[in-house]
Amino acid sequence: MAKKKLQHFAENKSFAHYFEMPFEQLSKGGHPLKGKWKADFFKSDHPLVVEIGCGKGEYTVGQAKYFPDKNFIGVDIKGARIWRGARTVEDENLKNAAFVRSQAGLLPYWFAPGEVDEIWITFPDPQPGCRQNKRLTSPRYLNIFRNFLHKDSIIHLKTDSREFFDYTLEMIGENHFRMIECNDDLYATPGNGPLHTIQTFYEKRWLEMGKKICYVSFNMPL
Ligand SMILES: C[S@@+](CC[C@H](N)C(=O)[O-])C[C@H]1O[C@@H](n2cnc3c(N)ncnc32)[C@H](O)[C@@H]1O
Repeated sequence: MAKKKLQHFAENKSFAHYFEMPFEQLSKGGHPLKGKWKADFFKSDHPLVVEIGCGKGEYTVGQAKYFPDKNFIGVDIKGARIWRGARTVEDENLKNAAFVRSQAGLLPYWFAPGEVDEIWITFPDPQPGCRQNKRLTSPRYLNIFRNFLHKDSIIHLKTDSREFFDYTLEMIGENHFRMIECNDDLYATPGNGPLHTIQTFYEKRWLEMGKKICYVSFNMPL
């Protein structure tokens, strides 16, 4: 493995706002902060927002700065990517942001029922064709996420993939979820709020290529 990657893995473990746990330990009752992120870690009862597939963490860090009265956790399976965001949180002493290295499917081991107020899914791998149950908005994943949401929790998706976007709209329609906002060309209407101004690594790349960015938010009755 590249030396830099190993350095980043080691550094991650030294950050106070970075978490990982071997499955053998996690599976015995979940992470010790499960159900206690607000009270014991962030030490505030502000809403908890989880970004799934956060990559380098630009959205988690950007939102944490924009919304000091919310707490943010970025989740990704790739520790080397998370390092970028976790390093920034450490350097800038951001108190309301953290990172968890985990598979999305294991998140019920990290969060208790009703603990998470918002989920952001930012530029997920599109999983084209027959790999639909790998999509983070598939019934398989949404049923996993239900374990730690409450009835008013909001799920946000930002994607460049029209196929992924349409698939998600179908999920919302078929399951009678409540649509909150839907836009199939976000930047066609200029805006200066966080939805427009906080951009991830992949979002910037797709915008440079002239791709349209789609956004939808919804919630699921539990
Ligand atoms: C296309 S990248 C987008 C990264 C970032 N959100 C951005 O917009 O720059 C997709 C990310 O999702 C992560 N990912 C894919 N499947 C995942 C899963 N099941 N659990 C956690 N992370 C996942 C990948 O490791 C990758 O970093």
